[in-house]
Amino acid sequence: MIVAVDGPSASGKSTVSRRAAQALGFIYVDSGALYRGVTWKCVKEGIDVTDSQAVTNLLIRMTMDLVLTDNAVGYVIDGEDPGQEIRAEPVRERVSDIAAQQSVRVYIVEKLRQMTQFGNLVMEGRDIGTVVFPESPYKYYLDADPEERARRRAVEIQQTEGTGDVDEVLSSLRRRDQKDSSRVTAPLQIALGAKIINSTGMTIDQVVDTIVSDLKKAGVVS
Ligand code: CDP
Repeated sequence: MIVAVDGPSASGKSTVSRRAAQALGFIYVDSGALYRGVTWKCVKEGIDVTDSQAVTNLLIRMTMDLVLTDNAVGYVIDGEDPGQEIRAEPVRERVSDIAAQQSVRVYIVEKLRQMTQFGNLVMEGRDIGTVVFPESPYKYYLDADPEERARRRAVEIQQTEGTGDVDEVLSSLRRRDQKDSSRVTAPLQIALGAKIINSTGMTIDQVVDTIVSDLKKAGVVS
């Protein structure tokens, strides 16, 4: 069984999906982390993320091995775990360009589909309900007002980097939302049959409860 949770940046997908996975006894997958991993590798190797030929060549020569740890699927790239570097500014500002490349999407979608080998999944991303697992009956689209999302992300950035101006974060989020929604391949959109949850003004617990009770009603867990 696959529970798909899609939505824009900082809509609460990660926290909610991780908690829902825990409550259901499912495995958690952050699909964005894989796009960030490829971006991290490009930055490390000095590859221009808009150079599709160079990016495709990188995908051919690198390895990305999946690893199951603490009920979540992670990965190592050429044997190396990028850790928190995938959340830092150089990756953050380039990831949407990488995610718009056709060869990257084919590569990552294949990795995401392979993850069913680990068991039942809660997978969060942008195209999980539309492209990766469109046949899954369990789909959610999580949203929140841009200002609320920017406030949430600024707090996260402040915690890790010491600074994080809400206005700057808001314009960075808007840039990324715009790229993610307008790209030709697998743009961010609401999947057919997805239940929409606007989490502005809701607590994390309320959102998790909404999803878990809905899945209980559907008979996914008792
Ligand atoms: O944490 P945040 O929601 O800001 O981003 P993320 O989930 O880590 O995803 C980073 C970027 O990867 C997004 O801005 C998208 O460009 C891309 N992505 C995607 O294209 N498809 C996915 N299924 C997941 C992420």
